[in-house]
Amino acid sequence: MLKNRSLIEPGDFSQEEMEGLFCLAGKIEDNPEYLRDSCRGKILATLFFEPSTRTRLSFEAAMLRLGGSCLGFAEPSSSSAAKGESLADTIRTVSCYADAIVMRNPKEGSALLASRFSSIPVINAGDGGHHHPTQTLTDLLTIRRIRGTTENLTIGFCGDLKFGRTVHSLAKTLARYSGTKMIFISPPELTIPEYIKDMLNKEKIFCREAERLEEVMGDLDVLYMTRVQKERFFNEEDYIRLKDFFILTAEKMEAAKKDMMVLHPLPRVNEIAAEVDSDERAVYFRQARYGMYVRMALLASVLGAV
Ligand code: CP
Repeated sequence: MLKNRSLIEPGDFSQEEMEGLFCLAGKIEDNPEYLRDSCRGKILATLFFEPSTRTRLSFEAAMLRLGGSCLGFAEPSSSSAAKGESLADTIRTVSCYADAIVMRNPKEGSALLASRFSSIPVINAGDGGHHHPTQTLTDLLTIRRIRGTTENLTIGFCGDLKFGRTVHSLAKTLARYSGTKMIFISPPELTIPEYIKDMLNKEKIFCREAERLEEVMGDLDVLYMTRVQKERFFNEEDYIRLKDFFILTAEKMEAAKKDMMVLHPLPRVNEIAAEVDSDERAVYFRQARYGMYVRMALLASVLGAV
């Protein structure tokens, strides 16, 4: 059903299609032999115009585990973008060499633009402060595999909600699940964009905003921590003032439900103290592993191996 489809923002896949990917990813986790070599002979191009550890390496690990191969670049300075080549020409060229493209680019809308010039599927690995749909697949698979359900949950999004593209994609997608409540916890300068709030209001999703984590900690089923996105600030002073606004500590965790899950798309800077890592409710490194499973499921589906 997903063969040859691009994924630019989470709304591109129906809830049913996402559920299909979660089932597939679950089968892969339960049986590492499942789908092994199903993409033999296929090539994935990873084009990263911005830094990445998890997204790029988990896509490459996913493709290698499926028996396929990878090519690409981890920074634009090693591509002809550094000589002034347009994104459209880069994409038209890479379409000649690969079977699918995974791209991260600092410009909002770049993934959609790339898909218009590509003859092969394009998967958005983050376009500026806009969307990061495969992180959303990762986040939902993590909740589903550990909690058993993605319904009737109160999710607290904490940190940089203005520039945090993972928050924008996840909030938009969680609006599809019944009983979802969202609490947006941020300093006034980094609140969730109005267009997301308008969309949630239109869908009649319960949501509220808070400035202090302590105010809402006991209400949460999932706490989604995010880092302040230094690279999207125009002003170093503002970044320094806001970067340590929220720090999750073991003491703050004492007020949380016993089964609350702490997620973080990572990388973490200071917003979660290292002492929280040993709390069994901190699942962010398991989440990074789920990212590989769901990307295996996605690649196998888009490349027509399932
Ligand atoms: N979560 C995420 O996108 O991590 P990277 O920036 O390391 O890819």
